[in-house]
Amino acid sequence: MAPIHVSRSGRGPAALFVHGFPLDHTMWSAQTEHLADVAMCLAPDLSGFGASPHDGSEKLSMERHADDLARVLDAEGAERADVVALSMGGYVALAMWELHRDRIRSLTLVDTRAEADDAAGRDKRDEAVARLQETGREEFARGMLPALLGPDATDEVRRDVAAMIESTPYETIAAALRGMRDRADRTGVLASIDVPSLVVCGELDAITPPDLSRAMATALPRSELVLVPGVGHMTPMEAPEAVNGALRTFLTQRARSERR
Ligand code: MLT
Repeated sequence: MAPIHVSRSGRGPAALFVHGFPLDHTMWSAQTEHLADVAMCLAPDLSGFGASPHDGSEKLSMERHADDLARVLDAEGAERADVVALSMGGYVALAMWELHRDRIRSLTLVDTRAEADDAAGRDKRDEAVARLQETGREEFARGMLPALLGPDATDEVRRDVAAMIESTPYETIAAALRGMRDRADRTGVLASIDVPSLVVCGELDAITPPDLSRAMATALPRSELVLVPGVGHMTPMEAPEAVNGALRTFLTQRARSERR
């Protein structure tokens, strides 16, 4: 197994932060800093992303990442974790629920969906793979930014997101696109998620719009929904204070109810 880079900070019950595509663990910096007094924050770079090397796989499946995350928890000595996951990270978290549910103490799904890609979505993934080498990562990043960010995202957030995309290896971007293209529909899994869950979504999210989050929150047996006004898909970076506050309340309530 290729090594997985993990950033660690804070003290308390383990919380596992799973990034989106094609990003890395630094997208969670505001949250891991803010929550350091209530959780041991583990923020891995999924295989091929950030500081985790790409192992040459043609396709990075959601199940493969889920298995890697279970191994990350093993290596950290964490039996269970509060899993916090954005977009592709959410696809991975739902696969993790299917494969390793005993490792998940609570689930926070941020700007994500349970549905698989439809036929048009799968075609778009293939087109993106085909175009990637000729257009280059800078162009790929330029194409993605308007969908990822709301209109009021700061220049700093724009720069940080673009830098993450541009530093992700081509092989990883292509392999991740194939993995997302072929991911399973997990809408049927939601009803089995009997741990506390929090669903968060930017009201202007163009990639996974709020209606998808509303539907997930309805299907999840023990969920709360937080819609964040004025921001797009990258809610944790665009509205860090709102996400930090929602997570702090959720995680401390979850810890308190477990102690009772
Ligand atoms: C992400 O933010 O992880 C991706 O946009 C998800 C996707 O492309 O389906």
